[in-house]
Amino acid sequence: MCGIIGIASNKSVTPNIIQSLKKLEYRGYDSAGIATIESGNLDEKKCPGRVEDLEKILLKRPSQGFIGIGHVRWATHGIPNQVNAHPHSSDEVSVVHNGIIENSNELKKDLEKKGYKFKSQTDTEVITFLLTDFLKDFDLVIAINKTLKALNGSFALGILFKKYNDIVVGARRGSPLAVGYGPNENYLGSDSYALKSMTKKITYLDDGDVCVLTNNKIDFYNSKNKKINKEVLILSDDKHTAEKGDYKDFMSKEISEQNITSKNCVKEYVDHLRKDINLYNFPIKPKDIQKIILIGCGTAYHSCITAKYWFEELTNIQIDIDVASEFRYRKIKFNKKNLYVFVSQSGETADTFAALDICKKNKVKTCSIVNVVESSIARSSDFVLPIHAGPEIGVASTKAFIGQLLVLYILALKISDIRKEILKPDYEKKINDLKKLPDLIKKTLNYCHNNTPIIAKDFLKAKGAMFIGRGISFPIALEGALKLKELSYLHAEGYPAGEMKHGPLALIEEGLPVVILAPRDRYFEKTISNMQEVIARGGKVILITNENSKIISENVRFTLEIPITNENLTPLLMTVPLQLLAYHVAALKNCDIDKPRNLAKSVTVE
Ligand code: G6P
Repeated sequence: MCGIIGIASNKSVTPNIIQSLKKLEYRGYDSAGIATIESGNLDEKKCPGRVEDLEKILLKRPSQGFIGIGHVRWATHGIPNQVNAHPHSSDEVSVVHNGIIENSNELKKDLEKKGYKFKSQTDTEVITFLLTDFLKDFDLVIAINKTLKALNGSFALGILFKKYNDIVVGARRGSPLAVGYGPNENYLGSDSYALKSMTKKITYLDDGDVCVLTNNKIDFYNSKNKKINKEVLILSDDKHTAEKGDYKDFMSKEISEQNITSKNCVKEYVDHLRKDINLYNFPIKPKDIQKIILIGCGTAYHSCITAKYWFEELTNIQIDIDVASEFRYRKIKFNKKNLYVFVSQSGETADTFAALDICKKNKVKTCSIVNVVESSIARSSDFVLPIHAGPEIGVASTKAFIGQLLVLYILALKISDIRKEILKPDYEKKINDLKKLPDLIKKTLNYCHNNTPIIAKDFLKAKGAMFIGRGISFPIALEGALKLKELSYLHAEGYPAGEMKHGPLALIEEGLPVVILAPRDRYFEKTISNMQEVIARGGKVILITNENSKIISENVRFTLEIPITNENLTPLLMTVPLQLLAYHVAALKNCDIDKPRNLAKSVTVE
């Protein structure tokens, strides 16, 4: 992961670097650092902790240079301490890096033989010394390309040079990097979000590109040291805001925005007048699709599992689901009649991007469902379906999950209609239900607002927790467990309720919280039986069901009743109490809600 920024300006760059690093903290937040050119020398300041901690250092010892780079870290090689924080500098070169250098051990041995002394445990320091070494014999661009050729793995780099003291250099392979064009200054950044407040004019680097920024010019080179031209894009004005407002943290804001997320999404795709779904320029004729493969990581993967149930119910298409980190290394038999769908909030997740890349190399049709429309995954896929959730800052995904579910459902419905696998009245009824969804989400939010903090108290002394459900409630149980572990560091398992007897029942003991997802669907009676088995073994049951389910069991500790909607949309409503529950357990445990330990939002390493 990690976030990088670089600025070449005609004024001090520190304030803008710090502001941009704060925006990039979603990519990593275990250490932060900055390097600038001060009176012709490289000056590096870094520390473990947050950008706020770096700011305190800069208050005492300001950096005033006009050329600078900055970094927020998510540790891969070496613990998060001062020495391992970026930048990594020699007398000649200062480097910030996002990615992993896989052959760093071998390179380190060679460089040590040449007399270079390593201070850190990072893989990045080899880049600093390789550049320092090649610069002895070669000009700038050649030295950079020679360094890059020596590296295996992935990287986005920001580099300062003592000898070339008016430039910032960027380079990428595998990890995202963009440049921005400003008045009297130019920028380098891990994403356009970090650059947006400074400029709307940007260019994305492709793998193998090198860029050289001064305050009034940006030059691009390819791996053969040849100058190249790149397209300049104008970023659209974002109607969504990335400010916390009156909320305590981004996550509570993002959870409470979910009715708006769903409204925007429905508005974008559903034509209520014509009772139809708008999807234009689909890359493959729905009638010809043999199989759909849904791929993602983390929460996005859970939306893929949920969608499998919808596609299987609404269409006759065969559906496969895959975790991107597994898909990318398996021996897949690609088929031109299949559609490969990639789901990702950030659109930058390294495993998902690599899986997409493999599909592209095999010349099959790809579609992405993303939140960030300027992202690498969106730009590389044949067809993009944005979820329109606006910036999601909390590391644990919430409103993006709702957006992903909705777009996947809308896609399933539309494909089903085109293939004539759903009757028109049923299609129109389901479209009508979509219109009512935002209000039902709002109602669920209001309802859960007061009772989830009380339920959360029960989790404080627990060793762990279980989440179980059948059918389409199973992936929602997985997501509930993921939210709880991410946010509160409590061990949590999600299970198909029917599988409990095959092992997990052994975990049930007196007082273990077990969240049972039992909407009034075709599985209801069976799930309630599984609930009784849990109760019989001492589990403390939190039952989430529909209004008027009329389950009276004195042994159920809490019952939450969510509104009734069509069965397809129930999982979206079921998600809300689970998010709020995880949120309140984490809040009671004083965990850092927006930045859980050891995690990052945009996972750009394998
Ligand atoms: C990280 C985040 C998760 C997210 C996953 C996939 O692990 O913490 O919240 O679900 O990455 O991210 P993506 O951006 O591809 O949806």
